[in-house]
Amino acid sequence: MTHIHVQGGRPLTGRCRVPGDKSISHRAVMFSALADGTSTVTNFLDGGDCRATIAVMRGLGVEVDERSPTELIIHGRGLDGLQEPFDVLDCGNSGTTVRLMAGLLAGQRFSSFLTGTPQIRRRPMARIVKPLRQMGATIVGRQDGNYVPLGLGATTLRGMEYTLPVASAQVKSCLLLAGLYAQGLTVIRQPGPARDHTERMLAAMGAPIAVYGNTVHSERPSHPLKPLTIAVPGDISSAAFLLVAASIIPGSRITIADVGINPTRTGIVDALRAMGAGIEYTNVRQQSGEPVADLEVSAAELHGATFGGEQIVTMIDELPVLAVAASQAQGRTVVRDAGELRVKETDRIATTVSELRTLGAAIEPTPDGFIVEGPTRLLGGAVESQGDHRLAMAMAVAALAAHGPSTVYGAEVTADSFPGFETTLQALGAHLTVEGAPSAAIHV
Ligand code: S3P
Repeated sequence: MTHIHVQGGRPLTGRCRVPGDKSISHRAVMFSALADGTSTVTNFLDGGDCRATIAVMRGLGVEVDERSPTELIIHGRGLDGLQEPFDVLDCGNSGTTVRLMAGLLAGQRFSSFLTGTPQIRRRPMARIVKPLRQMGATIVGRQDGNYVPLGLGATTLRGMEYTLPVASAQVKSCLLLAGLYAQGLTVIRQPGPARDHTERMLAAMGAPIAVYGNTVHSERPSHPLKPLTIAVPGDISSAAFLLVAASIIPGSRITIADVGINPTRTGIVDALRAMGAGIEYTNVRQQSGEPVADLEVSAAELHGATFGGEQIVTMIDELPVLAVAASQAQGRTVVRDAGELRVKETDRIATTVSELRTLGAAIEPTPDGFIVEGPTRLLGGAVESQGDHRLAMAMAVAALAAHGPSTVYGAEVTADSFPGFETTLQALGAHLTVEGAPSAAIHV
């Protein structure tokens, strides 16, 4: 177990980087495996979730050479080159791995079995199992396939038209991948702009993926897929913790270099700006098919705002730390239409409310979000990660703005998505000590 002890109030200053994007890192490994040829992935996220994806791909016969923990050479096996796994495929704690791999494996010529941690075994899978079955997939699993472990039988899939009941990039990506192995066209309609890394990356590899607004088409490629050379942008979901910390701790001014600013991911920047934050993009450029920038942020007087509708999916993972920002903002902040938070690593409405209240915030849960009254003088205290990386980091940020000392217990989970979280904050001047093993490398 690792615990983070925090003494708040110290301004953050300086320049830093954040680790590679989690969503893009997963996809880079999975999709490279389907190419004809060798792919190179740099700035790969060396975190627990993405390492689970590497392990799963190796279980399917894919050779992944690690030049370093963040630089991978992946020897593609071609679209039909995956091998029947000898054992159950362990997706660890990663929802993205289970859901995308289910789509990739549902149309193979062999059977496979997916499992994961107790936490992942509690997350809903009917959202992928139901549409995959409509495509002809043979899937068994606990409670009629609503929960992992899932078994996927050898089948021939057929394309279909499907409207996603909720905007989810994992479900969309699962079905687009299944579409690569299906007879005929797969048409997916999404109610909001869920992250589009799958579409961008598969299209760059030459797959027949076509995007028409919120509708995406996928079908079996007629040519081999091209390998990738990809430098993964910094993860805006990790940068979000630093954006909020620097916004709410008086006197802070930091630059976070090389962050992905794909518009399907920048809801948190829009939200913080709407609350009065001072965030600027500099050095905007394209990198491996994704927009990237340096993010400059200085402390600002924030005010409350209301968020809902289509913006929610573009910042779904950032809502716990947005609640922290709201606790330091003048007036009321309302987040609605975010019921998906209840089925993340934890019920993030319940866990954000309970832990943030412990530190002194005025936050109320609602069925699909929360309401925060601010600003409150956070006093600090003892909080629990509850096994949720984003909750642990959001609470560490709240602790940095608090007036008394705090401890975040069970903070080893930060390494699921942001290895080096604690050391990065220390290098920016935060008064923070780690008891137990830190979550790896510093990102400067
Ligand atoms: C992800 C999609 C989102 C997000 C998750 C990563 C992805 O989940 O919360 O952290 O890489 O596709 P949903 O698709 O369930 O919204």
